[in-house]
Amino acid sequence: MTDLHELIGQLTLDEKISLTTGDGAWHTRAIERLGIPSAFVSDGPAGLRMELDGCEPRTPPAVCMPSLARIACGFDPDLGYDVGEAIGKQCLSHKVDLLLAPGVNIKRDPRCGRNFEYLSEDPLLAGEVAVGYVKGVQSTGVGACVKHFAANNREYGRLVYDSLIDERALREIYLEAFRRVVTEAKPRAVMCSYNKVNGEYASQHKQLLTDILRNEWGFDGLTVSDWGATDDRAKGIAAGLDLEMPQNRTYTVKRALEEGTLTEQQLDEAVYRVLNFVYGSAPHVDEKVDVVKQHKLCRKVAAETAVLVKNSCNILPLKATDKIAVIGALAQKPAYQGGGSACVNSVRVDCLTEFLDKAKVDYVYAEGYSLDGVTTDEMTEKACTYAKNCDKVVFLAGDYKDSEGNDRTGVLPDEQLSLLERITSVNPNVVVVLQCGAPVACDWAASVKALLLDYYAGEAEGSALYDVLYGVVSPSGRLAETWFDVLPRFTDDYADNYRNCYYRESVYVGYRYYTTANKPVAFPFGWGFGYGDITRGKAYLSQNIVNKGKVKVCLTLTNNGSVKDTDVVQIYATNLDCRDFYPAKTLVAFKKVTLKPGQSKEVKIDVNVADLAHFDVDKHAFVVNGGNYLLTVARHANDEGDKLTLTVGGSNDTVDKRASLGCYYNPDGDFCPTTQQFAALYGKDLPVPSTKVTSSTAVGDLPKKGYGKMLYDEIVKPTDSPSTVVWKESNPVRQFVYGGLPWQLVDAYLELINCKPTLKQKMAFNRLKKQIENNK
Ligand code: BGC
Repeated sequence: MTDLHELIGQLTLDEKISLTTGDGAWHTRAIERLGIPSAFVSDGPAGLRMELDGCEPRTPPAVCMPSLARIACGFDPDLGYDVGEAIGKQCLSHKVDLLLAPGVNIKRDPRCGRNFEYLSEDPLLAGEVAVGYVKGVQSTGVGACVKHFAANNREYGRLVYDSLIDERALREIYLEAFRRVVTEAKPRAVMCSYNKVNGEYASQHKQLLTDILRNEWGFDGLTVSDWGATDDRAKGIAAGLDLEMPQNRTYTVKRALEEGTLTEQQLDEAVYRVLNFVYGSAPHVDEKVDVVKQHKLCRKVAAETAVLVKNSCNILPLKATDKIAVIGALAQKPAYQGGGSACVNSVRVDCLTEFLDKAKVDYVYAEGYSLDGVTTDEMTEKACTYAKNCDKVVFLAGDYKDSEGNDRTGVLPDEQLSLLERITSVNPNVVVVLQCGAPVACDWAASVKALLLDYYAGEAEGSALYDVLYGVVSPSGRLAETWFDVLPRFTDDYADNYRNCYYRESVYVGYRYYTTANKPVAFPFGWGFGYGDITRGKAYLSQNIVNKGKVKVCLTLTNNGSVKDTDVVQIYATNLDCRDFYPAKTLVAFKKVTLKPGQSKEVKIDVNVADLAHFDVDKHAFVVNGGNYLLTVARHANDEGDKLTLTVGGSNDTVDKRASLGCYYNPDGDFCPTTQQFAALYGKDLPVPSTKVTSSTAVGDLPKKGYGKMLYDEIVKPTDSPSTVVWKESNPVRQFVYGGLPWQLVDAYLELINCKPTLKQKMAFNRLKKQIENNK
């Protein structure tokens, strides 16, 4: 065992500083003089994505598993474990020490472009599935890095916006999944997010990185920045951010040490945690991945997590005797993963038609629409003719462009919608398979017989889809997020500007809002069914007393059907006596149960009383108030289910705030707190951005004259397309340093922008600029 304190004693100041920033983009710094090795980190979460400069392809092939959005639909931490373990092995085989996954941010809005990388709108579900995933990865000896801490719920302006969240929602919704993973699975690392949270960058947020993460939750691992997320690095170290990635300038840290704004003790703590991580990494063993086995796992997980949300007249499963028209280019080029840092170089991609051929199914295929070109009349006519002449149509629709860095519209492409309309007019037996990273508007769903939500299913999409369509597997996924009908009014300003995101709805996220406001949805959270017929006996509490912090809900499930099938029992709590506002329903427990035909099983599900808590902002603590709670044992969030009353002892002294926060007590279909109402909930002044121009200032906020304008012109070119201009303006100046602007020049610009420059300063600046241009 290396004595890390002793080792730190031998390091020079420069060496210490160098350990807190990367060596390039993917390694920690090695110090050969002292035999300190470097650690290697790489992306997930659907599979290993490594970037190796100078190698082609830049990331080696790896089995691409279903996206986390899809895995969450399994309501099964064990599936998370299996996938995590498989990806851990992929990492081992490439000597990767830390997998940069999973992402556990809450799905606040379906327009967020990274929702496919996240698990759920519910923190219990997101947290528990992530616990399985992290344990699976770490069972191989590879570390998992949970990201993006915290409140990263939009892509537009992701490096600059400020997520403004009241303390209660922050704790109950946005931090809760992180708390579960950190405390239950002990990930080796946590990655901060790009955005600000309540006025401070997450990369230098002491309350998040130290007070909550370490002091409250007991996290003793490594904190790492998201790539390029640091603003004031010295402040970040002092706040508890150990490692900055990728490699960046370090002189600001040295300056802060000299000026006394950062102490060597604080630096040593960060160095200790970097070294603790490096030395704690598992020794590299030669692991050879069994890609065939992993591909099979992908197929199994994908088939099991497919979500069947509509199946009129039991049109599914398809019968061997049915003559099928398969319509849609996605049947041959499936949308099975999202883009950006999660994008895997898959080993082999299954497509539906290949498996229909293998099974010798009686089908015809028409592309119907183009994915990357023009959809011609000929394509449409051919699809309609095929549809007319078959018993049933399988129509593949999809939103195939979800990617990190961009938000989404949540609407299917026009050519798909118009073709679907034509197809349903010639054949009433249409099954739609929807490939997408997150919900899309489904106002057309009434016109089709069945709707199977395929999300991004991983590289075995086609074979898994065959299994589900033909009943080899009964789909057992349940929605891990609400599929909206109409988006709530409080999200109207979702992408109004790149500066502020007002989380004005507080705790009313996803089904918490829709169930409280009684607002219709397309498909509720928890919704989905298989091909069997599982009935439930009456649920009861084994005793209406709390034992070791738990109560047990019991019920008997019986599979009356002729196929193996799965039920997901979901227990929602309603706090009947809380004086604070409270959503109508909160998921407090769930259990997936699989039964053979004819099988009956008594199921016992623990409800942790601690999970009935709300965050009391006056006490700054989670509190379970004494009083009555209703437990609804349900099939989905809108299900009336069986109702059980539970009485919990103890005081009930949460302050009633109805007088000042009235609008939060009875949210209705029009719920949209004003900024003033939200400010009352927020409880302190809303942060005002600093007027000082720094390298973190958004390009769009640079002064419109003088040196501000000149710097703007260095970045935004007259030839840029309007969307490029929007993107550039919503990014901080530092984002463009690597794109050709040297730090030296940026710093010189910033100095002049922030003062009234003298002639001497101006001349020095001109000389520098010329010198840099000559050196290009
Ligand atoms: C993403 C992270 C990712 C990192 C490294 C960032 O842009 O936000 O999720 O792990 O890049 O690729």
